[in-house]
Amino acid sequence: MNLLDSKIRDGEFKLLLPYKTPFVLGHDVAGIVTKVGPKANKFKVGDEVYARPADFHIGTFAEYIAVDERDLAPKPKNLTMEEAASIPLVGLTAWQALVEKMNIQKGQNIFIQAGSGGVGTFAIQLAKHLGAFVATTTSAANSDLVKSLGADVVIDYKTQDFETILSDYDFVLNSQDTKTLEKSLNILKPNGKVVSISGPPDVEFANEVGLSWFVKIIMRLLSFGIKEKVKKLHLNYNFLFMRAEGKQLNEITALIEAGKIRPIVDKIFPFEQTNEALAYVESGRAKGKVVIKVK
Ligand SMILES: NC(=O)c1ccc[n+]([C@@H]2O[C@H](COP(=O)([O-])OP(=O)(O)OC[C@H]3O[C@@H](n4cnc5c(N)ncnc54)[C@H](OP(=O)(O)O)[C@@H]3O)[C@@H](O)[C@H]2O)c1
Repeated sequence: MNLLDSKIRDGEFKLLLPYKTPFVLGHDVAGIVTKVGPKANKFKVGDEVYARPADFHIGTFAEYIAVDERDLAPKPKNLTMEEAASIPLVGLTAWQALVEKMNIQKGQNIFIQAGSGGVGTFAIQLAKHLGAFVATTTSAANSDLVKSLGADVVIDYKTQDFETILSDYDFVLNSQDTKTLEKSLNILKPNGKVVSISGPPDVEFANEVGLSWFVKIIMRLLSFGIKEKVKKLHLNYNFLFMRAEGKQLNEITALIEAGKIRPIVDKIFPFEQTNEALAYVESGRAKGKVVIKVK
């Protein structure tokens, strides 16, 4: 389960992902290969796999799905199917933010917002594996969880203001609202970088994914304010919308099998309660991931 499913259901992503109804939601899957296409040669019937199927090929809230083999990876052997299903979208998001966009190096420091969420629980562990110093926000009840994942500084966002505690950071992984994004700029050192996964999308992103000139104009307008602030402060801003990528998922499998990263699964719902599961995710209180299990 991902918030992306409810956002697409509510029509929030129409500009970026113009799905035609009816279609099946669901962006993460773990399961067993039951059939392979004539040109597919990386997997065979019976293999245990997991994936974030590519945009426009989603639909994992189902018993079967056809997935391009380029989006698949072997399921980590040390995980259950439910644990494996919790990984792809958030794992790839963290990978594409920390490794691709930030190229984070040993000894650098990063502020990861909402460390107890789906993305946060993975990103903290990946950042620690890469040798970074990690600060995060969560409420007091989840403080032990994020510490157990390796967070070095834990800020209770309900009683403390991260802006007055953190300074001179290399990176911010922004996953919250505009106000939090703007405050985050003030904790960065000159030339520091914010990667935002909660918007606003920018023109560079529109170019990367080849969106139309019309959408580019909208994205320029949406990100105008933050781009101006970032320029004044000599910082960098990137919007990230994660993409399916079997090769990166392979690397994630290796990290999980080596015990460097573990899944954090909050609740598992039966398939019949898919709507309830999505409502729980929408509550914004999930500790790690929410999974649905198909019998
Ligand atoms: N662009 C992309 O490619 C991409 C990919 C993945 C996700 N996203 C987006 O990133 C955002 C986060 O996703 P997610 O799946 O990680 O969310 P999530 O799992 O639903 O996050 C829930 C967690 O956030 C914490 N939280 C809530 N409000 C907070 C605040 N103000 N400060 C700090 N922590 C807070 C909660 O802790 P408490 O219960 O302690 O409050 C809870 O543990 C969503 O908007 C999602 O759509 C974007």
